[in-house]
Amino acid sequence: MVNRPEIIVEARNLAYHYPGEEATSFPALSGINVAVYRGEYLALIGPNGSGKTTLLKLFNALLVPSDGEVRVEGVSTIDEVEIPRIRRICGMIFQNPDNQLVATTVEEDIAFGLENLALPSAEIRQRVGEVARMLNLEHLLQQPPHLLSGGEKQRVAIAGVLAMQPGCILMDEPTAMLDTASRRDVNDMVRMLRQNHNIAVVHVTHFPEEAAFAERVIVLNQGRLVRQGPPKAVLTDLSLLHSLGLQSTAASELAALLREDGFELPSQLLHNRELVDSLCSLELKS
Ligand SMILES: Nc1ncnc2c1ncn2[C@@H]1O[C@H](COP(=O)(O)OP(=O)(O)OP(=O)(O)O)[C@@H](O)[C@H]1O
Ligand SMILES: [Mg+2]
Repeated sequence: MVNRPEIIVEARNLAYHYPGEEATSFPALSGINVAVYRGEYLALIGPNGSGKTTLLKLFNALLVPSDGEVRVEGVSTIDEVEIPRIRRICGMIFQNPDNQLVATTVEEDIAFGLENLALPSAEIRQRVGEVARMLNLEHLLQQPPHLLSGGEKQRVAIAGVLAMQPGCILMDEPTAMLDTASRRDVNDMVRMLRQNHNIAVVHVTHFPEEAAFAERVIVLNQGRLVRQGPPKAVLTDLSLLHSLGLQSTAASELAALLREDGFELPSQLLHNRELVDSLCSLELKS
């Protein structure tokens, strides 16, 4: 018998209307059916206002559905008593790390959520030490968070979520305010989490190069799920992406232009290296 992957978060017929939303406009989300599986890396893309942040907030019970339901490890987010458990299972990371660091030292910041769980102090110290080691933050533990770089701050925010031993991390454009080196740093960490710790990651991003590393890409537009599939399929569907005002990776866009000019390139190129290798093999053949 084939083992079915375990669902960690599931939305069924999910809709959300913000209070005061005009009846004439479309709801922030409608008709969403989607599951997040344990340990998978899911990218969520779509134009501004398409509902990405709203969906993440529904996943960790910051918002409750107007219609349909969200279940986290089988428990509905409508059940208020379960909210602390749901937030522990589904931690959220926001775009601006400054808005999520609250304590006077990095160590206290990482421990913040654990203190609220009322765990014994020895266990708190042990968990903080573990995640600090894992994310290379040990040398910063006594620093005040506001003195850190953007990338370091985002690592501390992720450490705080990780210390809660979540099943899923929801990341809302976590690299949008970071420079290239810090962005690479955070992206390497995301890959490490999924490979070594079996933690699902839902990553909202406007960077196609980031989405290209996910296992599955979901596209939202005007509150609806319009496409999902592996990056090789979704991010090479340039007519869909362009019709929504989105772009694919530089390699995929360039390959399309080269194909128009008669270059015989494979249809599913996403990464720079793949494009270069394909062009070099053309050169060798001719
Ligand atoms: N607090 C709010 N009150 C009313 N409407 C809101 C609120 N937050 C979002 N919306 C509306 O809900 C829709 C979806 O917004 P959401 O923030 O989820 O989009 P998004 O895909 O995250 O966009 P972006 O790429 O700009 O972050 C938009 O039409 C937005 O105007
Ligand atoms: Mg958003």
